[in-house]
Amino acid sequence: MCGIVGYVGAEQAAPILLDGLARLEYRGYDSAGIAVVSPEHVLQVKKSKGRLQVLRDLVEGGKPIEGHLGIGHTRWATHGEPNDVNSHPHVSQNGRVAVVHNGIIENYLEIKEFLQAQGVHFRSETDTEVVAQLLEYYFNDCSDILDAMYRLLDRIEGAYALGVICTDEPDRFIAARKDAPLLLGYGEGCSFIASDVTALIAHTRDVAYLDDGEVAIVTKDGITVTDALRQPVEKERHFIDWDVSAAEKGGYPHFMLKEIFEQPEALRKTIFPRVHAGRIAFEELKFSPDALRRVRRIYIVACGSSYHVGMIGKYNLERLLRIPVETVLASEFRYCDPLVDETTLVLVISQSGETLDTMAALREAKARGAYIISIVNVVGSSIARESDDVLYTWAGPEIAVATTKAYSTQLALLNLLGLYFADELGTVTQTEYDAIVEQLLTVPGKMETILADTEPLQCLAAHYFNHDSVFFIGRNLDYALGLEGSLKLKEISYIHSEAYASGELKHGTISLIVPGTLVVALGLYGPLFDKAMSNVIEVQARGADILALTTERHAAEMRKVTEHVLVVPDTHALLQPSLGVVPLQLFAYYVALQRGCDIDKPRNLAKSVTVE
Ligand code: AGP
Repeated sequence: MCGIVGYVGAEQAAPILLDGLARLEYRGYDSAGIAVVSPEHVLQVKKSKGRLQVLRDLVEGGKPIEGHLGIGHTRWATHGEPNDVNSHPHVSQNGRVAVVHNGIIENYLEIKEFLQAQGVHFRSETDTEVVAQLLEYYFNDCSDILDAMYRLLDRIEGAYALGVICTDEPDRFIAARKDAPLLLGYGEGCSFIASDVTALIAHTRDVAYLDDGEVAIVTKDGITVTDALRQPVEKERHFIDWDVSAAEKGGYPHFMLKEIFEQPEALRKTIFPRVHAGRIAFEELKFSPDALRRVRRIYIVACGSSYHVGMIGKYNLERLLRIPVETVLASEFRYCDPLVDETTLVLVISQSGETLDTMAALREAKARGAYIISIVNVVGSSIARESDDVLYTWAGPEIAVATTKAYSTQLALLNLLGLYFADELGTVTQTEYDAIVEQLLTVPGKMETILADTEPLQCLAAHYFNHDSVFFIGRNLDYALGLEGSLKLKEISYIHSEAYASGELKHGTISLIVPGTLVVALGLYGPLFDKAMSNVIEVQARGADILALTTERHAAEMRKVTEHVLVVPDTHALLQPSLGVVPLQLFAYYVALQRGCDIDKPRNLAKSVTVE
């Protein structure tokens, strides 16, 4: 949700800012802008509605904009429609201050009214402009941008990552954060800020994570950080070992397709180091077996696809552990007065580690005494840092807005964790434990066999892409998987799609099934295959066009009732969604391709959702 970048150093700032924004564009892409201080200390601001390329064209790649210090922004609009004026950076009335912001200033209206009463004239509809105007207002009073910044931070409420330049301070810029991600990058004779590491790795791998309440002064010679009480903070530096190519398309037409194909490798990296001689070991986990034995209830809290992983987790963990497991949307969790105390374990799932709703749920659970274990992909992200324990999915950078490899690695990790806990609690037999571990290790290889032949999916996508409404049906794990298949399809192809628990159709929704309605019928979950067949026949009788998904074991039976059957290899029933999700991802991808959609950057969406 908005990407910000800042640079100061010997190079020309504008091209570096534009390259950084290109890597952050997945976070928001309805407009973009940069502000650079010229050698004559003049603020040069260029911004425009539309994709980053529009801005690039406008500024001819940035070369004509001279200056060694600047900030940039790629926007996902919250306050005010996407247009040139509402784009960031926002500049104060007298042009001394420019600001880029990710987050929401909740009390902006009150501040705006205050400033208007002082004669300040506003140009945009955004919440961010109050930051620029209020900073200048304070700066006029104290002539010290750092002091002005602290006064500003005392006054504003909400979430923010801020990058601020002031023409009176041409050699440094300021950054601050609260509840929105911001990294500091330490280069050779240059320094950076960015919303995430992808914008930095071409220049430096030496980073630190700014914490809530901290303020950074960024110069080409280094970065100093002070806390909310203005005391100096020694930041822990981290080395990022991601390959630059990990954040590039590498010959694939879209990041989404590349990331689908990266899944087997990502799974190996996530699973294999945690299994030794058939035994699961979480060396990074501090949560003790004694603490586990005290757990009376487990909540899984997440949003979107991560929540769908949690839905599968509910079925699998409850079955393995015999402890009540409830999966709750993070955006609902904190408002439902959840039954959380010291005997509650909360599993938080997030690819980005920055989703605001998930973060808020985590804090709510923590405040009520729960122990928090998070499953996160982005190392050092806010959720990772605020959890009692963090288990990383080693999926590498995921750029496409539609998640694929993060989903798969989250699911594998949650299954691994469930099985590990079950073994600790003695709620799984040795035979079943061995069988699941053995099958888990074969998932990446089996996934490769699915990926080796995408032609049937391309044909089916060509056959079905014109449908305007789709139902995904299934029971138990197939229902949970259907939620993800449905989300994948709707978010990138814009086809209306819903997932239903098959048994629930007859209680209302079956009235929407008419001749020609596309139903994706999931018959992967072995124990309920017969029921899945009955539901296929039931919707077929209403004229539905069926696309079935099942395993090799049941393929022949499914083909007796319907023509279009996608088949994946068999595995342990609890792990079957890990294989079933791949054709659903590919189906969504190829349908969106047929429809000419912007697959990596679907409309209205952003990769990291840092607003409530
Ligand atoms: C799914 O493709 C989306 N990208 C979205 O639903 C995502 O899973 C959700 O916003 C949660 O994000 P997180 O895992 O980064 O917290």
